[in-house]
Amino acid sequence: MGALASQLLLAGGALAGLQACSLNSTQLSCHNTTAVKDSCCLNSPGGLLLQTQFWDTNPATGPSDSWTIHGLWPDNCDGTYQSNCDESRAYKNITEILKSQSRTELLDYMNTYWKDENGDDESFWEHEWSKHGTCINTIEPSCYSNYKPQQEVGDFFNKVVDLFKGLNTYEFLSDANITPSSSKTYELSDLEDALSKAHGAKVTINCEDGALDEVWYFFNVKGNAINGQYIAADAASDSTCPQSGIKYLPKDSN
Ligand SMILES: *[C@@H]1O[C@H](CO)[C@@H](O)[C@H](O)[C@H]1NC(C)=O
Ligand SMILES: *[C@@H]1O[C@H](CO)[C@@H](O)[C@H](O)[C@H]1NC(C)=O
Ligand SMILES: *[C@@H]1O[C@H](CO)[C@@H](O)[C@H](O)[C@H]1NC(C)=O
Repeated sequence: MGALASQLLLAGGALAGLQACSLNSTQLSCHNTTAVKDSCCLNSPGGLLLQTQFWDTNPATGPSDSWTIHGLWPDNCDGTYQSNCDESRAYKNITEILKSQSRTELLDYMNTYWKDENGDDESFWEHEWSKHGTCINTIEPSCYSNYKPQQEVGDFFNKVVDLFKGLNTYEFLSDANITPSSSKTYELSDLEDALSKAHGAKVTINCEDGALDEVWYFFNVKGNAINGQYIAADAASDSTCPQSGIKYLPKDSN
């Protein structure tokens, strides 16, 4: 191994251990998956990956001009999903794991943008990892060469943050003149149009008490969940918001 490669490994290089998936020959998840089963280069059965985000106002979490991260969920291609797939990897030390991998920038980012509404971010991250992360088949330890324990945990959190950074919901909405307001209300079709246009596929928007609360962005993936290619896919579930009169409350209104 070359000096650079060793250094990358020592630095906890995120991609170092996952098998390379040749993208031009790899199948797209949820598409004609009969040919390949349980491959480290095909997300299956969880071939529909959802990057989910919150707009929490009561209590408010995160910066007032940003949505926050909920998670990354592997759904089967039909609206059902697996959960809690590996109790032996239901870690209770996500912060320590990320620190031990020198992922301090990632941790700082998560401390700002991946917030638990009850104030216990670590527990929230543990929940997201054990419930959903352990069900992503392409990041199972067996998919790594020279696997280092919990390597896939760092890869998972890093990937969720990367996807979130590419999906700036606050900006997508404000570009369509949809901004938080304590008095204004919005039509579901306008919210859907703004976000679906930005994403390139239909999204799911959820409400709580008639106010905007959550958005789900769907993807299919070519290759593994870490360095594979994410391709926007249409939402597999309907919005829970009313058709009109939807509030988008400011985070500083409470
Ligand atoms: C694409 O696939 C061909 C044939 O399977 C292979 O020879 C080539 O190296 C691949 N290219 C890339 C960039 O993976
Ligand atoms: C599905 O994949 C198999 C194996 O790669 C291929 O032979 C077959 O033509 C594909 N079917 C469709 C409908 O694309
Ligand atoms: C995290 O917890 C697991 C399971 O108890 C343990 O094997 C691992 O060494 C811990 N990692 C760190 C960095 O503390």
